[in-house]
Amino acid sequence: MKGLFRKRNQKAKEITTDSFNVDETIPHHIAIIMDGNGRWAQKKFMPRIAGHKEGMNTVKKVTKRASEIGVKVLSLYAFSTENWKRPDEEVNFLMQLPVDFFDTFVPELMEQNVKVQVMGFTEKLPNHTRKAVEKAISDTEKNTGMVLNFALNYGGRSELLEASKTLAEKVKTGEIDVEDITESLFEESLMTRNLEEYQNVDFMIRTSGEERISNFMLWQNAYSEFYFSKVLWPDFDEQALEDAIGIYQKRHRRFGGL
Ligand code: FPP
Repeated sequence: MKGLFRKRNQKAKEITTDSFNVDETIPHHIAIIMDGNGRWAQKKFMPRIAGHKEGMNTVKKVTKRASEIGVKVLSLYAFSTENWKRPDEEVNFLMQLPVDFFDTFVPELMEQNVKVQVMGFTEKLPNHTRKAVEKAISDTEKNTGMVLNFALNYGGRSELLEASKTLAEKVKTGEIDVEDITESLFEESLMTRNLEEYQNVDFMIRTSGEERISNFMLWQNAYSEFYFSKVLWPDFDEQALEDAIGIYQKRHRRFGGL
């Protein structure tokens, strides 16, 4: 099947695919739990960090493809609030990855018109990681294409608690009444507020065969379609993404209706 996608930078790209229907809805917001880096490395008798390094290359492939296909937001779970429990060597490596990623990939993100955003408790990240992230955000801030939304030191429950505290504080100071707290006001206090109409996830993918949500975007995933792939993240590629989108297109989303 052949189709023509027009990216928002007006460059047209022809895509040939049997995996999904180019005329049907592409999920606007895809969220991915990139799992299986450690197992991928262990299977090859390599240290776990080798899996994370290869996982970074997968991020590049999948980002590029998602942007070409016309996805509006790609949210990637890169580091959770629970990942600090891992050995220091692994944590240090994971904190260096965004530096290497943006060092090598920002030119391509510019070419793809991709805008970088980050959600999470970034103030707790080491300086070099935070600086790399802030630079990537500012370098790409004028881009108008897909948003690449990294979750770094992110946790869904903490996000909900923070939003609750923000609103409670506003009630306390009289800025709002309790009755003013609606779903849309609540969403304005979430870490995804900048995503506006694409705040909620349409399609949540987790790789490596694990079937859990692991504290990822608990509010935003309320009505998303879930897809669990057995493929380990470093082996996930453009074709795997397209196959997943094909599966999404066969689903019938009802949002609680009939
Ligand atoms: C889970 O696999 C993966 C992570 C905790 C880290 C994910 C990070 C990347 C894919 C690289 C991110 C890239 C950038 C640019 C920040 P795991 O280690 O839990 O795998 P396992 O379950 O097989 O042990």
